Amino acid sequence: MLIRTPALHEPRTSDITPRSAYLNRREALAGLGLAAASPLALAQSASGGGKLAKLPGAHSAVAGAMVMDKLTSYADASSYNNFYEFGTDKADPASHAHTLKTRPWTVSVEGECAKPGRYDIDALLKLSAMEERIYRLRCVEGWSMVIPWVGYSLAELLKKAEPTSKAKYVEFTSLADKSQMPGVRSGVLDWPYIEGLRIDEAMHPLAMLVFGMYGEVLPNQNGAPLRLAVPWKYGFKSAKSIVRIRFVEKEPLSSWTKAAQQEYGFYSNVNPNVSHPRWSQAGERRIGEDGLFAKKRPTLMFNGYEAQVGQLYAGMDLKKNY
Ligand code: MTE
Repeated sequence: MLIRTPALHEPRTSDITPRSAYLNRREALAGLGLAAASPLALAQSASGGGKLAKLPGAHSAVAGAMVMDKLTSYADASSYNNFYEFGTDKADPASHAHTLKTRPWTVSVEGECAKPGRYDIDALLKLSAMEERIYRLRCVEGWSMVIPWVGYSLAELLKKAEPTSKAKYVEFTSLADKSQMPGVRSGVLDWPYIEGLRIDEAMHPLAMLVFGMYGEVLPNQNGAPLRLAVPWKYGFKSAKSIVRIRFVEKEPLSSWTKAAQQEYGFYSNVNPNVSHPRWSQAGERRIGEDGLFAKKRPTLMFNGYEAQVGQLYAGMDLKKNY
């Protein structure tokens, strides 16, 4: 997020695992009857990852869940992060997030629902079948990545709570523990990190509860043990290391809106036609692929997921509801 301009770290093209190579290996494995051995882990080992516990997921059948863009390398996806609880530089989360303890971990589901509950992370891992989905992630700062996430639709968990008719929005709260998260001692944001979605957005099958990436459990810096991936919105809507999910009647006040209301609205849908007050959102730089001086690639409406989610915003003024 831009409170100040970060020095852009631009990984080399050679760091990327071409998607064709990844798919070929997958097909070769399937031919050998080894598809369950998480071919993503191979893509990852090609780029130097592969050290965390395996978490394979079946190919997702959700429309739009598998984009055909080239994958970002594991090395880039796990070293160029925004996770302000661990510092504001892109390299800070990878350097400092080892202090985060991801067990025991519970998530409370509460508010306007008939069946609130506290879920242990290991119960959440078993709540629904794990799927692998390749999503674009577009950061509001103007860069993007393509990441193979592992998890399932957020709706699977939300439905279990039986939200009432008063549940118009869903609020997500991240852990804020000074003893584990050095950045929480700073005043850069008003902790804990809070985000929100309208209930129909949260229930959309593309809104994903994520436990892993590249066939493994999430590295801490990417939001272990569980986070959101809401691919048609700017990356900051996808809260990391979630401890509370609350159904509410009023629009939640997210941390970024609280910090700079003119710059970060509630909806934050990726939209090349609505500029951030300080920069255009018409183009983006794909991390690892587009060099610092390369022409930016055009940003797509709703990050390319318009066919799936455009209907959620029919009739809304997207300049006003930015
Ligand atoms: N969640 C928390 N709790 N704290 C954060 O600072 N940063 C957000 C989002 N979720 C953030 C967060 C932003 S700005 C982005 S772009 C994405 O996480 C980055 O996710 P990634 O590091 O896995 O690419």
